[in-house]
Amino acid sequence: MTAGVFITFEGIDGAGKSSHIAALADALRGAGRTVVLTREPGGTPLAERLRELLLHERMDALTEVLLAFAARRDHIVQVIAPALAQGQVVLCDRFTDATFAYQGAGRGFDRAALSYLELLAQSGCAPEPELMLTPDLTLWFDLPPAAAAQRLAQARAPDRFEQQPLAFFERVARGYAGRAAEAPRRFARIDAALGREQVAAQMLAAVRARGWLAGAAGG
Ligand code: TYD
Repeated sequence: MTAGVFITFEGIDGAGKSSHIAALADALRGAGRTVVLTREPGGTPLAERLRELLLHERMDALTEVLLAFAARRDHIVQVIAPALAQGQVVLCDRFTDATFAYQGAGRGFDRAALSYLELLAQSGCAPEPELMLTPDLTLWFDLPPAAAAQRLAQARAPDRFEQQPLAFFERVARGYAGRAAEAPRRFARIDAALGREQVAAQMLAAVRARGWLAGAAGG
């Protein structure tokens, strides 16, 4: 059976990743893959309820971390692991790198504690219960925080994170850069400052380079 593929989308708010996820799903379906489109926090009824709390209720950094990982655990157990075990492609809008970037770099939460929670939350699941479940590829939409803030200013009502000052997003952006440096094979940096078409082309090239679009027209 075809092996499952787990691809995550990351970047600061306003980097524009969300609009490209559906396009990648279409391309992968065109290559004959079954695709699950999902997001974090969220992706299950329980995790979507936790998302509402995380995005709109005031809480301290530890509470934020515990809710993010509780939502993630439920999402992995109910959705991500079963789909991967069946050989499907899972496209997830944000995953654990967001916790390291937002709660770790952004809020200053202890990195070693995050690493331990990552191991706990991502172990013991299909398809390889003895390993920590980790994305096969992380598409990192990288955009200078000032440019992202400009894009966000034209968007809808901001949530609790989107209301943060520029300095917060500068820390979050450095957090992503740090995670990318630690896992250069897993991360593909997408220059999100370019035009929409060029951003899409970079994304498809990163996926194609790994052989996951082989059946697609022109792939
Ligand atoms: P986002 O993914 O940007 O969704 P939308 O496009 O609907 O705004 O919103 C999720 C927010 O949650 C985003 O600001 C980042 C934050 N977040 C964390 O702080 N920690 C996490 O672990 C995750 C997954 C997200």
